[in-house]
Amino acid sequence: MITNLLYRSETTLQPKDPKLKAILAQARHRNGNMDITGYLHWEDGIFHQWIEGPEAELQVVERYIYDSKSHHGLTVLGRNVVPTRQFPGWDMALGLSEENSLFNFIASHEAGTADHQEYARAVLAFMHAQSGTQVR
Ligand SMILES: Cc1cc2nc3c(=O)[nH]c(=O)nc-3n(C[C@H](O)[C@H](O)[C@H](O)COP(=O)(O)O)c2cc1C
Repeated sequence: MITNLLYRSETTLQPKDPKLKAILAQARHRNGNMDITGYLHWEDGIFHQWIEGPEAELQVVERYIYDSKSHHGLTVLGRNVVPTRQFPGWDMALGLSEENSLFNFIASHEAGTADHQEYARAVLAFMHAQSGTQVR
């Protein structure tokens, strides 16, 4: 089984920040070693990250994410155990709002932010719709 986690957090990092590139490089390296896959979207200082893998490995990666000083105000939108992955093959895809806006997508799909389940479904749909536009 695969455990997945979706959260949002706030950051002062900007897309062109070398620190963001370093975080992503480290994340991809670790994820590759631990069979973790997922999608990270940055927009207007807000991260949304979908992360998935075996429970034990996910817990290790979660610890790095929760301990990071590079973001704050982290809200878990969903954490579930399921049979399959959403992003097999992506050690961590990166989406930037320069390409497509999650917030516009949410607004046009009339997904409220109060209901975490509904919001999480909309975020996942957005991430899937980005396939092919991610930065490798
Ligand atoms: C938005 C964000 C996403 C991250 N995603 C992952 C990840 O997918 N896998 C991982 O092993 N670490 C991940 N990390 C942790 C970083 O790779 C790194 O360990 C951490 O940012 C270092 O701490 P610092 O930001 O305080 O310097 C993430 C960190 C942030 C801020």
